[in-house]
Amino acid sequence: MKLPKRNDLCWCNSGKKYKKCHLHSDELGETAPPGLQKEMVRKPTVAAGRISPMNPVPDHIGRPEYADTGAPTSARSSCKKVNPDQIERMRKAGKIAREVLDTVLANVRPGITTDALDRIAHSRTVELDAYPSPLNYMGFPKSICTSVNEVVVHGIPDSRELVAGDIVNCDVTVYAFGMHGDCSETVFVGEVDEDSKKLVQVTWECLMKSIDLVRPGQHFNAIGKVIEDLVREHGFSIVREFTGHGIGESFHMAPYVAHFYEPNNATIMEEGMTFTIEPMINAGCAECVVWPDKWTAVTRDLARSAQFEHTLLVTADGVEILTGGRQPWFMKQ
Ligand code: MF3
Ligand code: CO
Ligand code: CO
Repeated sequence: MKLPKRNDLCWCNSGKKYKKCHLHSDELGETAPPGLQKEMVRKPTVAAGRISPMNPVPDHIGRPEYADTGAPTSARSSCKKVNPDQIERMRKAGKIAREVLDTVLANVRPGITTDALDRIAHSRTVELDAYPSPLNYMGFPKSICTSVNEVVVHGIPDSRELVAGDIVNCDVTVYAFGMHGDCSETVFVGEVDEDSKKLVQVTWECLMKSIDLVRPGQHFNAIGKVIEDLVREHGFSIVREFTGHGIGESFHMAPYVAHFYEPNNATIMEEGMTFTIEPMINAGCAECVVWPDKWTAVTRDLARSAQFEHTLLVTADGVEILTGGRQPWFMKQ
C-alpha cells in the first residue's frame, strides 16, 4: 500500500486532493493506516540546547524600559502615530537593525551554532551604539531569535550547530535613538530541498505583496486577505497565534496585524503609523506548540515554517520600509 502524492486524490474517497484532506493528519500519525504511520510521522530536527549567559550591554547605550526588570511598562494598548522627529529616529533604528541582520545572515553556514550568530549580532548591535531589543524582554535570555526548520518563531539561540539542508529565520530588533526597529529573514544553510525553497519563496512573496498594499485609508485586513490567497494556492498554512504589531517607542503595541483574513476587523491605516508585517507560513498544519522554555514555538506536525519581517511607516501616499532592502538573502544564495 502506498500513500497518495500531495496533489493526488485522497485515499479516503472524499474526492478531494490529498493535501487538502488527510495529508496533515496522516503526518501527525492520527489517521494513516497503521502500516504507514511510522513512515509518515516526522521527527523533531531541533531540540533544546545549552543557552549561554546573557551578554552585557555597555552602560553608555540607551536601554528600553524593560532592560532591567524584564517587564515592558510603557502604554502599549494605544495605537500611536509618529511625528517627524520620531520618524527620523525610527529610520536610524531601522537602518541599524538592517545592518545587524545583514551581518548575522552573512555568517550563516553549516557548523555555526545559533549561539555564535547571537554573539555576532550582539557585538555588532552594541558597536553601533544600540541595545538588542529581545535581551531580557519579558525575560528572553538572548539578543536575537533564531528559528530553525520546524521552529515557527522565538527560537532561543543555543549550542545547536546548523547543518546543511536546514532553513533558519534570524530575527533582529534593535533599540536606538529611543525607537525600535524589527526585521527578519529566513535563509538556507547550504543546499536545501525544493519544498523548502518553495516555502521560503512564497513566504517572501506574502510579505512583499502585503507591503505593496499599505497606504493611508487601507484596511488592515487587506494584509491577511492577500496572504491567504497566495498561501492557499500553494497548499501551505498561516500561523494565527503570532501577528505583526505596532512598533516605535515600544517594542510591541497596538495595532496587531493579522496575517490571515479577519472579515470583521475595521481598523484603517493612517499616515504616521509604524508597524511590522511578519507572516509565518507553514508547509503543513497551521497550529503551533510552545516548548516548556515558554518561548520556542514549533509546528504541531513538525513540518517546516518560514518567516520574513519588515518595520513599515505609512506615508502620505504609500509606505516606507524602514528596515531596508527588497532583495532578500535567500535570493542571492
Ligand atoms: N522580534 C520578534 C517580533 O518580531 C519578537 C521577539 S520577542 C523576544 O516581534 F523576546 F522573543 F525576543
Ligand atoms: Co522580529
Ligand atoms: Co516583530
